[in-house]
Amino acid sequence: MAASIVEHGEDAFRKLFKFYKRRNPPPDYSEVLNFSKPCNDKVFACELNSTPKSEEDVSKAGLRPVKDWRAFGLHGYPGFIFISNPFLPGSQQYWVKQCLKIYPQKPNVCNLDMHMSSVETENIWGKSIDVIRGKGCGKREPKTLLEKLRWVTLGYHYDWNSKTYSPDHYTPFPKELHSLSHKVAAACGFPGFNAEAGILNYYRADSSLGIHVDESELDHTRPLLSFSFGQTAVFLLGGTNREDRPTAMFMNSGDVMVMSGPSRLLYHAVPCIVPAPAGNVLPPCLGQRLETEAQDDDIIQRVSEEDWDVCSWYLQTSRVNVTVRQVLASGQTFPSSQASHLSTDSCEKSEEGTQKNKKRKSESGYERDT
Ligand code: OGA
Ligand code: MN
Repeated sequence: MAASIVEHGEDAFRKLFKFYKRRNPPPDYSEVLNFSKPCNDKVFACELNSTPKSEEDVSKAGLRPVKDWRAFGLHGYPGFIFISNPFLPGSQQYWVKQCLKIYPQKPNVCNLDMHMSSVETENIWGKSIDVIRGKGCGKREPKTLLEKLRWVTLGYHYDWNSKTYSPDHYTPFPKELHSLSHKVAAACGFPGFNAEAGILNYYRADSSLGIHVDESELDHTRPLLSFSFGQTAVFLLGGTNREDRPTAMFMNSGDVMVMSGPSRLLYHAVPCIVPAPAGNVLPPCLGQRLETEAQDDDIIQRVSEEDWDVCSWYLQTSRVNVTVRQVLASGQTFPSSQASHLSTDSCEKSEEGTQKNKKRKSESGYERDT
């Protein structure tokens, strides 16, 4: 049992991370919280903010009425909100397509840019689909760019080396993702949320995401939003110290997590993707098509069969997570010292060894294995 392998004490987080990361034999998941059928005394139902106007608004982004969302809090984690798949049937497909086909496009930045030219990484989707469509004819093909994708950054692009956002490296944040985030944040009690930076993480069956705290944003009073699509992951939510024993929970396709207030700066990690019990299958909520035709003023649009074939092939063995962050408080600007401080820093670190190390880190984003 997970409980017996880790006592509260020396790096309890690392111990539990390794417990769930183990593949052979697979870990016991019996202590992992499952919000799709919550029956645990740590979990309580959470009341969200719903108004007639917000109800109309959320449906345009592909969300159910807020009054129908199954939102939960966790005792001991004030400010943490888990919303069990609030998406309308069929609408996750649109967000998945954005994550796989649109957001990896230039001018956004991805891990492949760290060691490939911009010409090579220009059309990740286009370059991958020809190979994917020809797959399965017996030959061992090299991995497609889509399969090599590990992270994409949006808005203020996160610098993995300096662990900062910079005013000098900004590209417009996607409008529709801003809008989705604004509506979710408002329902959770954070009106006026301004999505300024996004990190997309792409997980293959054997990927994990190391233990970290998201503290690079300059305003920690704003929540951090997380959207998950595809295969189920185990998410570990810890405390402010690595010694605090984390809580493990499943994150299924469509689930949304909000880290705010005292939970905004907690340690967390993704130790594993849970193997689908029946082999490579898509979670049923992803197979649904939109029930009604999208209207012109809707944010979400129907995904073509052709595009969905590629997305569903990819997600049969993968997970995509999008985290959305507000970096600056309203009216705040980056400290003027940041630009000059950064350039001095990178001059000092220009010896060869450090450069190699920097390259390795920036390819992998957060500490991870694949
Ligand atoms: C992150 C993060 C968690 C996840 O990108 O900062 O913690 O569920 N992602 O992938
Ligand atoms: Mn994080």
